[in-house]
Amino acid sequence: MPGYFWNSPYRACGGCTCQKYPSIEVCHSIAPLVANDSQIVGAATDFNVPKANCIDRAMTKPRLTPLAEILPATVPFVGPEAAERQRGRAFDARLGANESVFGPSPRAIAAMEAAAGDVWMYADPESHELRAALAQHLGISMHEVVVGEGIDSLLGYLVRLFITQGDAVVTSDGAYPTFNYHVVGYGGTLTAVPFRDDKEDPEALLKAASEKNAKLIYLANPDNPMASHHPAAVIDDMIARLPAECLLVLDEAYFEFAPHDTAPAIDTSNAQVVRMRTFSKAYGMAGGRVGYAFGHRDNIRAFEKVRNHFGMNRIAQIGALAALADQDYLEKIKQDATASRDRIAAIARENGLEPLPSATNFVTIDCGQDGAFAKAVLEELVARGIFVRMPFAEPGNRCIRVSCGRKPDLDKLAKILPKALKAALAR
Ligand SMILES: Cc1ncc(COP(=O)(O)O)c(C=O)c1O
Repeated sequence: MPGYFWNSPYRACGGCTCQKYPSIEVCHSIAPLVANDSQIVGAATDFNVPKANCIDRAMTKPRLTPLAEILPATVPFVGPEAAERQRGRAFDARLGANESVFGPSPRAIAAMEAAAGDVWMYADPESHELRAALAQHLGISMHEVVVGEGIDSLLGYLVRLFITQGDAVVTSDGAYPTFNYHVVGYGGTLTAVPFRDDKEDPEALLKAASEKNAKLIYLANPDNPMASHHPAAVIDDMIARLPAECLLVLDEAYFEFAPHDTAPAIDTSNAQVVRMRTFSKAYGMAGGRVGYAFGHRDNIRAFEKVRNHFGMNRIAQIGALAALADQDYLEKIKQDATASRDRIAAIARENGLEPLPSATNFVTIDCGQDGAFAKAVLEELVARGIFVRMPFAEPGNRCIRVSCGRKPDLDKLAKILPKALKAALAR
């Protein structure tokens, strides 16, 4: 029977009569392998452990890494499904996760339906077809693009590639939290600079990156949760002034909804920038989990060291391929999103609230008071079946965030918001 021993100072297990090593949970039969409370001696070779009544407990105490031991068990976002379980019924309008309620292209749906019967096959681990199509779409080589299980996974891979314990990373206070989640998960040290005028602040990001000798800067353009954006010229200027050896992670999840001059021209010769886009937003495939990163081929090749080569969903990739080919549908979605943004803004104004300008598929609405009031508005909306979210950091947390919806969704919002506001004000 293989031997097991621990190098962490657990208490002796209750079932063991051996008190020789009281601060270590270890069966007496393997205790001689342990030199002291915190060091392993000897290899985990096979040796006999008698059937003492403590063996099972000793063997069921696997050791997390020291980092994992101290990490909080958390999810960057609690899903609407959790709230639905709690309230015992589905939301009437799902307007909180910046999904595209308009759904994917009918051509993507048809392609996925046709592919369903082949789901017994693993997907091509190189995602050759999708990468080739994306490369053509972007006007780059397919060696300069990698696909992943949404931007969220690609952020994780990227952080794993660049960040180890103690490395400095710079982001904005209140920016997309999944990035932070990965940085913390790999032991990086985050510095978060404030938003300026409800926008991420390139100057502050650059300054902090220099001061901290940061390896990564994260910037979403357009940004979530404030829906703001910078024109391409600002981003280009920022790229030109990046500290040496610092990489800009440019998250363009909402790129398709933004004004034409938002995204800088693609320049894959610059190894200091990795850009990420997704099929979750404008292409309406959030549940498919397909995102992509593009940039200098050395950086893109590095993903091969850590990515999950069979992680991509076969059916979703086929859907993404068809969605990408249907740019007419994408144009229609952009128009639908614009109309929806206008309607959300109008509903906000009808209720005396101020919608912020949006370059995304959601509208961030200033509730005119502090974070506690915005939270109350959100809770009253949620209690009445309207799922929305809100920024979590000051001063953005004076707002709620409403994703674009279809007419029936927004009719419900229009009906419920006055009641929610009244209830929030009465608290
Ligand atoms: C800024 C930003 N980046 C990335 C994502 C996640 O993208 P994906 O679904 O591709 O993981 C989101 C989703 O809300 C987002 O707001």
